[in-house]
Amino acid sequence: SNNPLWGGRFNEKPSSVFLEFSQSISFDWRLYSQDIRGSIAHARMLEKIGIINATESEEIQKGLTEILQEIEQGQFSWSTELEDIHMNIESALIKKTKAGLKLHTARSRNDQIATTMRLWLKEEVQKILTLLSRLQAVLVSWAEDNLDVVIPGYTHLQRAQPVCLSHQILAYVEMLERDKERFQECYKHADVLVLGSGALAGSTLPLDREYVARLLGFEKIAENSMDAVSDRDFVLDFLYGASTLGVHLSRFAEDMTLWSTSEWGFLELPDSFSSGSSLMPNKKNPDCFELLRGKSARLISNLTRLSILLRSLPLTYNRDMQEDKEPLFDSADTVELCLEMLIAVVPNLKIKKHRCMHQSQDPLLYATDIADWLVEKQVPFREAHHKVGELVGYCQKNSLLLSAVPESILETIHPELPKQWKTFFDPQKSLERKKTLGSPNPDFVRKRIQFWKEKLKKF
Ligand code: ARG
Repeated sequence: SNNPLWGGRFNEKPSSVFLEFSQSISFDWRLYSQDIRGSIAHARMLEKIGIINATESEEIQKGLTEILQEIEQGQFSWSTELEDIHMNIESALIKKTKAGLKLHTARSRNDQIATTMRLWLKEEVQKILTLLSRLQAVLVSWAEDNLDVVIPGYTHLQRAQPVCLSHQILAYVEMLERDKERFQECYKHADVLVLGSGALAGSTLPLDREYVARLLGFEKIAENSMDAVSDRDFVLDFLYGASTLGVHLSRFAEDMTLWSTSEWGFLELPDSFSSGSSLMPNKKNPDCFELLRGKSARLISNLTRLSILLRSLPLTYNRDMQEDKEPLFDSADTVELCLEMLIAVVPNLKIKKHRCMHQSQDPLLYATDIADWLVEKQVPFREAHHKVGELVGYCQKNSLLLSAVPESILETIHPELPKQWKTFFDPQKSLERKKTLGSPNPDFVRKRIQFWKEKLKKF
């Protein structure tokens, strides 16, 4: 039989290969509750403007509510022949009530799908924002538990200067805060009612769009019907937010992977989140972090995939746009999965404090502090830098620790240097000497932890 929803002008029924090729119900079924919400609001508006009467409106709303329950109880059967979520639901409604024949008045699947996706994404963003805050909260308490731990900080993956381990953990909390802002921006762009735009050119019927916007909780109303049905920027925003989050999580994963090696030895992974080797009995691998790093590839590529999909589409709706959903769902699912995994694993990460303290006693980490001290003694910085650099070179050549340079040599740099010398190499003291806001001075780090705890106290 011809399609009951658009088959009027067709003489042949769709080929079964084409049906399989063009169906989206296998993945867009998950939009059902938002699609039904949108339809109920549309029906109430049609009633308000007198296109359908109160009884018809009642029957439509009752039918849609029943369909919602059937889907939720797993009693609804999806049909590939009906292509997508919209036609599956509308056909089921028409079977329940003849009033259903009036529901699609002044509506196209083009404005319908855009509305449905916006409703779905607004809910999804709220979920992700909560997960991000929960992840921040577990990171902050991890940082607090390890406030006394000093580690070497790295640049170029070479030891650079000592930092509080907490300072490095809190760096990720800052990143996650910006990630939240990106998702909030996406929410703002999704929060626009596009229903009422029709296929592309609005309607000759006097739709009350303000009323629909109020019913569905949209902040704004799309001002251009052609833009409204073509626009997927809000999905790109989401995928960009997810991609950047993926980059951050992957960098965290990389840090944790390094920290858990024998070479670093800062971190003991929980058995419950690691895997062994089927061959080597000695192995304990950081699979949770490797997979986290791996999953960022999906998040990054989904953004690319949608950008490529959209870039050459003429206005307005094109069927290509149906391909927007799988990258969206994949990124949303992946983000949720990654965040849930991290929220579970972080409280089980154990810092090996002794090892960290031992590593932070490498005297070379304090070379910059020595140069700074010389600056306070009026030595020009470039000169101070050079002098300390020469000392480091001298130590390398003579297999000597920087802390063990003889007084006679130190004296030639500055007369007060010998008696000062030993005080430079205390990790805690070095950090306490930091004066700049945002530095790993333990006082600042403690304050920032308090700031985050206050801000995240609901999580
Ligand atoms: N399933 C379609 C999609 O996701 C809905 C819109 C279809 N519109 C159309 N004119 N065929 O894009």
